[in-house]
Amino acid sequence: MTAEPQFGKPVRILGIETSCDETGLALLELGPPAQDGQWPKARVLGQALHSQIDLHKTYGGVVPELASRDHLLRIMPLLTTCLEQANTCLDEVDWIAVTEGPGLAGALLVGVSVAHGLAAALNKPLMGIHHLEGHLLSPLLDAGSQDLRFPFLALLVSGGHTQIMQVDGVGQYTLLGETIDDAAGEAFDKSAQLLGLGYPGGPAISKWAAKGRADRFEFPRPLKNRPNLDFSFAGLKTAVLTQVQKLQTPLSDEDRADVAAGVQAAIVDVLVHKCMAAMDQTGLKQLVISGGVSANALLRDRLLSAANKRGAKVFFPPLQLCTDNGVMIAWAAGLRLSQSVVRPEAGDPQIMARPRWDLASLAP
Ligand code: KG4
Ligand code: ZN
Repeated sequence: MTAEPQFGKPVRILGIETSCDETGLALLELGPPAQDGQWPKARVLGQALHSQIDLHKTYGGVVPELASRDHLLRIMPLLTTCLEQANTCLDEVDWIAVTEGPGLAGALLVGVSVAHGLAAALNKPLMGIHHLEGHLLSPLLDAGSQDLRFPFLALLVSGGHTQIMQVDGVGQYTLLGETIDDAAGEAFDKSAQLLGLGYPGGPAISKWAAKGRADRFEFPRPLKNRPNLDFSFAGLKTAVLTQVQKLQTPLSDEDRADVAAGVQAAIVDVLVHKCMAAMDQTGLKQLVISGGVSANALLRDRLLSAANKRGAKVFFPPLQLCTDNGVMIAWAAGLRLSQSVVRPEAGDPQIMARPRWDLASLAP
């Protein structure tokens, strides 16, 4: 199958995401290529998402084997729902885009296998998408992002990644700094587990923190004052554990809320500080935030006010696109098509599950 984009009519892209604990399908209609530097117009015709939160919450985290089985169970019914919503059928799909990686091997294999099956049966081209590229480009789907132009900075904050990238174009990502141990989302999840707040931890910590005092407990801000742009969050869970052990058990609601507020403040403080340092070091004044943790309200507020003081701008994905979904995968594929930066592997039967895959390796 050739990888040549056809833009005579709007292009319909089916996006498939199964890298972790969300099965996401979406059908996106993409208008003509960008004019005058504007992003192409895109319309979500249908989308269906199933989150496995209930499946994994008893275990306090994602169980890979259960995740793969659940993706397998859900993916075809979700495809039907997505097409019904769009009031269309598979014949009307022009491209299939699927998350190739990084993520859980078995979970990725479900999406990639279904995508190969659909592409072969329908004789349609297939494009493999890097999951983090999906997150990174998702803020461009927000109506408020029409002013955003390359180059810009991007903070990727998810359950598995914390990275600051410089984005010079679609597919041109340079890593400026990343976590040397736990990801920011992982720090939220592990702290929430220690406080008995359930899974996923980010939304739970943020809800409890709203009732707490952030200054009662002082949690560490590792690497904050180092000149590099790397992060370290592993020490935070030890600090939370030590603090929880000092408090009377069972924890009172007040203690829980105060610890939650303290942890959230520590994570957000470091993230904001490093983003501002990245602006100072690169001179770039536009910052995109994406990944599950970008839904955090305190992070959004603090970044907006810090950037404002420097005359810089921050862009976020629409809230419903912060966590994993199929729309961002279809959109990343659409941007690649519209900017003619389709990777040579597009349409290739070698598109496969890539559990470990470096975003910077996408550079042409
Ligand atoms: O991007 P994502 O959906 O999946 C990965 O690719 O990892 O991110 C999930 C992570 C989880 O760690 C979750 O706790 C965190 O995003 N998260 C949040 C919030 N909503 C989700 N963290 C802080 N505040 C939130 N409101
Ligand atoms: Zn993700």
